[in-house]
Amino acid sequence: MFRDRLNDTAAAIQAQFDTVLGTFDAVPVVRAMAHATNGGKRLRGFLVLESARLHGIDPNKAIWPATGIEALHAYSLVHDDLPCMDDDDLRRGEPTVHVKWDEATAVLAGDALQTLAFELATHPSAGNGDVCADLAQSLAKASGAQGMVLGQALDIAAETADAPLTLDQITALQRGKTGALIEWSATAGARMAQADLGPLQTYARALGLAFQIADDVLDITSDAATMGKATGKDADAGKATFVSLLGLDEAKRRADQLVTEACDALHVYHADGDVLRDAARFVVTRKS
Ligand code: IPE
Ligand code: IPE
Ligand code: MG
Ligand code: MG
Ligand code: MG
Repeated sequence: MFRDRLNDTAAAIQAQFDTVLGTFDAVPVVRAMAHATNGGKRLRGFLVLESARLHGIDPNKAIWPATGIEALHAYSLVHDDLPCMDDDDLRRGEPTVHVKWDEATAVLAGDALQTLAFELATHPSAGNGDVCADLAQSLAKASGAQGMVLGQALDIAAETADAPLTLDQITALQRGKTGALIEWSATAGARMAQADLGPLQTYARALGLAFQIADDVLDITSDAATMGKATGKDADAGKATFVSLLGLDEAKRRADQLVTEACDALHVYHADGDVLRDAARFVVTRKS
């Protein structure tokens, strides 16, 4: 049931991107945006739609912030893969944007995906003015120098740090780079309903950390064909991860513990939270 829902979400988000980008002139930067928004698990969009469903929000409204966060995420990946960042050639089984086009196109496609994210997330169909303003404010905060960009900057700085990062420093890094957008996604439905964000915030903080631990574990235990992106690179690049600090087994144990924490945080939703509980389990059992 969870897998079916995730697949349905992915199809709905892809259709939305096809519709929106189909109205743009098919110039290289737009084709690069379409390339960058194609595929992926769509976990963040799923979290938006599922948190909305929990709060009785119409999916035809929630599809806008769901597509918006996937545009923001795609921008972060295009820039993450640049030669000056992680220098990756493969993403979602396809050449990265700077490889297929060039670096300037990748920078600009990322820029335009970031602004498209706000255009979509605050679409008039998503909610009233107060709701859209809250979605925009919180998305800006989650994306920028208090959120994802901060985490990415700490991640790059750690590569050349004199001493290994501590557990607290790695936790702060991951909370920004991966956690902030996941937290925004899982709380978006509560924002749309102007409801209490608390339980979903607790859920998402644990989920975001578990998600990044799984990504770091898969970098070591999986392969490029399965992942659709290069693997075995983090250690060589000197990345600070839970795995580099704790080792594989302890990192996996920590991820499992975080999944339990995430699931427990949903008790106020009773059985209605089961799909999000499945999502938490999926995050650490996924193969790609
Ligand atoms: C990859 O995110 C980048 C990280 C934050 C680890 P995902 O694993 O969600 O990538 P897609 O969207 O499914 O390709
Ligand atoms: C990327 O983290 C996080 C963001 C893009 C914000 P990683 O560098 O670990 O992601 P992958 O492994 O390249 O997907
Ligand atoms: Mg990176
Ligand atoms: Mg990377
Ligand atoms: Mg990674």
